[in-house]
Order: sequence, then structure tokens, then C-alpha cells
Amino acid sequence: MSFPLYAPAEEHEMLRETVRALAEEKIAPHAAEVDETGEFPWDACKALVAADLHAVHVPEEYDGAGADALAAVIVIEEVARACASSSLIPAVNKLGTVPLLLSAAEDLKRRYLPPVARGEAMFSYALSEAEAGSDAAAMRTRAVRDGDHYVLNGTKMWITNAGVSEYYTVMAVTDPAAGPRGISAFVVEKSDEGVSFGPKERKLGIKGSPTRQVILENVHIPATRRIGEEGTGFKTALATLDHTRITIAAQALGIAQGALDHAIHYVKERKQFGRPLADFQGLQFMLADMAMKLEAARQLTYAAAAKSDQAMHGTRSPDLTFFSSAAKCAASDAAMEITTDAVQLLGGYGYTRDYPLERMMRDAKITQIYEGTNQIQRMVMARQLLK
Ligand code: CAA
Repeated sequence: MSFPLYAPAEEHEMLRETVRALAEEKIAPHAAEVDETGEFPWDACKALVAADLHAVHVPEEYDGAGADALAAVIVIEEVARACASSSLIPAVNKLGTVPLLLSAAEDLKRRYLPPVARGEAMFSYALSEAEAGSDAAAMRTRAVRDGDHYVLNGTKMWITNAGVSEYYTVMAVTDPAAGPRGISAFVVEKSDEGVSFGPKERKLGIKGSPTRQVILENVHIPATRRIGEEGTGFKTALATLDHTRITIAAQALGIAQGALDHAIHYVKERKQFGRPLADFQGLQFMLADMAMKLEAARQLTYAAAAKSDQAMHGTRSPDLTFFSSAAKCAASDAAMEITTDAVQLLGGYGYTRDYPLERMMRDAKITQIYEGTNQIQRMVMARQLLK
């Protein structure tokens, strides 16, 4: 495997400072309330849109900022450091639109990407179903051609930001006899007749981001809303995840960094046995391990982001699939360990809602599950090694 040269440029560091300042001032103060109430973080959304940070990946030709994958990672990382639910705004906007960037006809891109870039619409991704989670190709949602339209029927499940997003990339079966090669991708709008949403799932974490079913009942959409050729939808879906599992890694890094920062502050303040906790070597070793795991995962994620840029701009990047699964897996496993240890460092206080650590630990858990469980990531990595 070859390793690309990458290094955050000065602009990336400036971007980090900008996003951190915005997140601390406008997003962090609402994070506990968003978690308590389960309300969508509209304050964060407005602040991100006002600063043009809600979808930095959209290319300039579609009215976007045209930022590279590392910039998108840094935005998501810094927002997640303050509030994981809010970090799903830039992350899901990227997830919903990458299928178009990879595979859609120019007209479709021109119609749907500018509203996302301008912050007028969000864009979700609808792959999973009740019986098709890890085995995504087992989906049952049908799209049947009817002249110059398709008629969609079925129920998508676990759809992040469902109901708040205007647009959805929906994968559906166009040829049931063809397996994964019989799946096609479409843009569905929230306002299309026959689209409705299930109740909000009652979740352990990321409570401010609604997770709902997207129910499609005789939804007629023009055939021009198909993304790419018929039968290419599953490949587009998996190729998308090659780019966006990196954004889940970014979210995990941000949550972990938030927890580590709080824990470091706490052990310097808190005294037991007449000394600050920071004086105890056993706890110093815990902090060192936490920071080491975090930095290792961060470097892998940034390397994966460089691979994503190469692939997006037409340079062959055969190990992107490995790198994105590895980054997602390493960062989310690290985030789970780091947030759990951060709770431990705060002792009883860490276990209460008076501190943000228990929220961060709950939020970290989903990063090991969505965009493919970490067991699926290991399967993907092993397939790459063995092929
Ligand atoms: N890019 C492009 N094409 C790919 C690909 C990739 N990375 N990986 C596989 N393919 C192609 C294969 O070449 C094959 O095409 P051909 O038949 O033409 O050769 C086709 O896709 C099917 O591939 P597989 O036979 O490998 O497919 P599979 O059924 O064995 O499944 C899998 C592979 C890796 C398990 C896949 O189903 C998977 O990733 N599952 C996890 C699903 C997942 O991640 N869901 C996340 C939902 S989104 C979400 O969670 C978002 C959110 O809320 C924030």
C-alpha cells in the first residue's frame, strides 16, 4: 500500500480556528439542551449556514465553497467537539450529495446542489431498510418505470435527518432479478406526493438529529431524477460510503477530542488526597493513552481524506476503500474508548448530566454503528487485503 503525502495547509488551520470559535460560541451552549429535548439544532444550523460551513464540500461550479475533503473533515470534527448532533448537518449534507457528485447527469447536479450550497435545503441518504441493514443489497423498495416517470414504493429505515432534509438520495430496486446490479439511485423530494416519515427513533445519543423512516407510497418522480444509469445505484451507494465513512471518522474524532479536553481540564482542577488528580501517574497514563489513540486515528483519517480527494478528482486511488473503512473503524473505536475513559476520570460527576461527558460517551456509540458497523468495516478491509 502506498501512503500519500498530506499535510494540513495553513488554510486548514485557519479553518479549524474559525469553526472552533463558532462552535464554542454558538453551538456548544445549546448542546445539552438539544440532547435533553431531542429538538433539531436549528441554532447550530443557522450559525453554520451564516458562516458557510454547512456543506463546504460542494464544488464552486454549483455555488459551493469547493473545499477539499480534509476541510470537510475539520469542519465536522470541530462541530462534533461541541455537539455531535449538530455535526450531522455538514456530514449528512455530504452523504446525501456525494452520489450526485459521483454519478449524476449535469442537469441533476445543477438543479439540486446549489440549494444545498446556499443552505436552503439539506440532503439525506436513504439506503437501509428494516430487513436490509448490513446486507444493504437485500433492499425491497421498488422503483418501476412508467413512461418518463418512475413510481417508488417501500420504506427506508434509519434515515438520518429525515423530515428536516428537503432532498433524499433513495436507492431502490429497478430489476429484482439482477441482485445488486438491479438497484438504481434517485433523488426524492420531501414535497413529492406520497412521501411521509415515521416517528422519530428513541435513541441512546445524537438525539438532536432525527432518525426516521422515509415512507414512499406510489411516489411518481420524473425519470430525469435517476442518478446515473439504471442498475448502477448500489455501486454509487458503496462508492459514496468510501468518501463519507471518513466524515464519520471526523465526527468520532471531534467527540473524542471534546471528551479529552474536558477530562484534562477536570483533572487539573479536581483535588483528592490533597493533590490535583493530574498529579497521579495512573491517571496521567490514562490521558496519554487517550491522546495517543486519538492522534493515531486522526492521522489515518487525514490520510484517508487525501485519498478521497484523489478519487474525487479522477486520480486512481485503489486503496480509498481500505482507508475509509480503516479510518472510520479506528476513529470510532478510539472515540468509544476515550469517551468511556473520560467519564471514568470524572468519576461520579462524569456519570451525571451536569457534565457533557456522559452525552459524549452516548454520542460516540453511534459512530461504531452507522455508515456500516465496524464489523462490516473489518469485512471490507479484509476483502481488500485478500482480493
Ligand atoms: N465502490 C464501488 N462499487 C463497489 C464497492 C465500492 N466500494 N464495493 C463493492 N462494489 C460493487 C462490487 O464490485 C459489486 O459490483 P459487480 O457485481 O458489478 O462486481 C457490487 O458493488 C456488489 O458488491 P458486493 O458483492 O461486495 O456486495 P455485498 O452484497 O457483498 O455487500 C457490503 C458489500 C460491503 C457488505 C455492503 O453491503 C455494505 O457496505 N454494507 C453496509 C451497509 C452500510 O454501510 N450502511 C450504511 C447506511 S448509511 C448510514 O448509516 C448513514 C447515516 O445514517 C449517517
